[in-house]
Amino acid sequence: MGQKGLHVALYGERGVGKTSLANVLSEIFHNQNLPEYRAVMINCNTEDVFDSIWRNVFRELHLALEDDASPEDVRYHLSRLDPPAIIVIDELDRVEDDDSLSLLSDTVKSLSDRAVPSTLVLVGVAGSVDELIGEHRSVERALVQVEMPRMSLSELREVLERGFGEIGLTARPTALNKITALSEGLPHFTHLLGGFASERVVADDRNEVVLADVDAAIDRAVTTHTMRSAYQTATRSTRADNLYPDVLLACALAAKDALGFFSAGAVRDPLEIVAKRRLQIPAFARHLKQFLQPERGSVLYRTGEPRRYFYRFANPLLQPYVILNGLAENRITDEEVAELQGIDFTSESPLEQRRLF
Ligand SMILES: Nc1ncnc2c1ncn2[C@@H]1O[C@H](COP(=O)(O)OP(=O)(O)OP(=O)(O)O)[C@@H](O)[C@H]1O
Ligand SMILES: [Mg+2]
Repeated sequence: MGQKGLHVALYGERGVGKTSLANVLSEIFHNQNLPEYRAVMINCNTEDVFDSIWRNVFRELHLALEDDASPEDVRYHLSRLDPPAIIVIDELDRVEDDDSLSLLSDTVKSLSDRAVPSTLVLVGVAGSVDELIGEHRSVERALVQVEMPRMSLSELREVLERGFGEIGLTARPTALNKITALSEGLPHFTHLLGGFASERVVADDRNEVVLADVDAAIDRAVTTHTMRSAYQTATRSTRADNLYPDVLLACALAAKDALGFFSAGAVRDPLEIVAKRRLQIPAFARHLKQFLQPERGSVLYRTGEPRRYFYRFANPLLQPYVILNGLAENRITDEEVAELQGIDFTSESPLEQRRLF
């Protein structure tokens, strides 16, 4: 960034810290010995089109834009900005209008070709740049592609310790371990659980976060989280002995590949622990299939072919949520989760990275 003609696409899973990084990037620009820059950030929504996106940007820049702006109009105005700007367009994944995304990549190309000094940072939930702005070969050379991965256990621990430290708290190693292990690489959960745990400590007039604070934070997180309704839609049933909650929890605990995919076979071991009896695939295949259906919120996504299907949580936030909920509802113990995840978070020693999912 800061190099004329190059713009940035920052993408990754939901909740990995994209918006936070985009914020820090613009702060760095403000602080370093770089030429003076302005920074603006806007969020997109499902109704947004090319014109409304740029109208929002220009409003932030205190400039007016004529009606029906074209990529050339945008380039013209940006090329006259003094000082130049870092323009973060966040939540681009929410824009539904494909033509608007095409116009946006034309804009990137046009800004780049004419070496306009302002920098665009396109941010959103996506697995690739193509998924973020559509396939536009011509724009690739003009975009620095930054994929935001999940955070490591030690990074999450740092996030927590820094957060607690800022409000004068310390934390027991077991409390740190439990939060970081259950966050599954997503700072979203680290922040949430750390916040709830520290509120409890402060309310009690203590200064050390202990395991009981984390457990109370988990109880609070599962009842207030936006994933709660997705969880309920996926698992509801009129029969008290239904298997949906157990199968979904077993899916959340199943061994996964680097992309978060698991097979039906991988559900058996965790399901044996959760359901307290060994079930073979035919006994829960119906449940897996149901989780793909809109009536159950399409909480799982499936790829592959019959007999070789692979499943993944459609929303990556739901998987850690389901485990937290399983702990809150005593469907599973800390020790069982630790064993299945291969991360012994019940010990006092700092956790080693084994696998992220
Ligand atoms: N480096 C970090 N240090 C501390 N907290 C962080 C860090 N990165 C992210 N967080 C926290 O994690 C949570 C999720 O981060 P953020 O909103 O940036 O993610 P995102 O990828 O933009 O999410 P979404 O996909 O929902 O837009 C926020 O509560 C944020 O404060
Ligand atoms: Mg965000």
